[in-house]
Amino acid sequence: MRIDIITVLPELIKSPFEASILKRAIENKLVEVHFHNLRDYTTDNYKSVDDYQFGGGAGMVMMIEPIDKCISELKSQRAYDEVIYMTPDGTVFNQQIANHLSLKGNLIILCGHYKGVDQRVRDLFVTKEISIGDYVLSGGELAAAVLCDAIIRLIPGVLGNETSALTDSFQDNLLAPPIYTRPREYKGMKVPEVLFSGNFPKIEKWRDEQSYQRTKERRPDLLDD
Ligand code: ADE
Repeated sequence: MRIDIITVLPELIKSPFEASILKRAIENKLVEVHFHNLRDYTTDNYKSVDDYQFGGGAGMVMMIEPIDKCISELKSQRAYDEVIYMTPDGTVFNQQIANHLSLKGNLIILCGHYKGVDQRVRDLFVTKEISIGDYVLSGGELAAAVLCDAIIRLIPGVLGNETSALTDSFQDNLLAPPIYTRPREYKGMKVPEVLFSGNFPKIEKWRDEQSYQRTKERRPDLLDD
């Protein structure tokens, strides 16, 4: 997989890719991530990427020209499966979308800033608009980092234990069950006895019940789907 991230603030998004699991995935060549600074695609002396809104109104709008130049250059080099625009008015991101995107080859992710991009960018280039939740961030960079993390960890070989992504919360529309490690008893609090039974079908059944209970209490909406 290859991900090209278009941004006016590359320094804001680079660090999550320089640590831990994402760093290792890049080093092991399971994914390539490239950052493109929109200011490198401007044509005026001021390197402007934004301008006033037609019709008036507070806030600047990202102009189409630098974005067109950047996306067109990338598309001249390879085919892309999706051009994703990070925006609070997009489809709300979830595990199902992460699973779907983790199977793609090449992705472009466009990070919005200010009031967002000129509508013609969305009409012309964007194939998917994604929000990471019903709140407004100061730019799309942190949202893009969240999206990339959720996608990249699903690529086969990225997580050490191949099965561990399959047992995450949400993978079957259920939250994950409680988990425990040593010590067996801490300040009077005991680990459930079933986990020491050695009876794996029984342990699986207990975990399934716990997942269901937790989902029913905390996220009953997931059980409706
Ligand atoms: N840009 C600003 N807020 C956002 C959000 N909630 N999701 C995606 N991109 C955003």
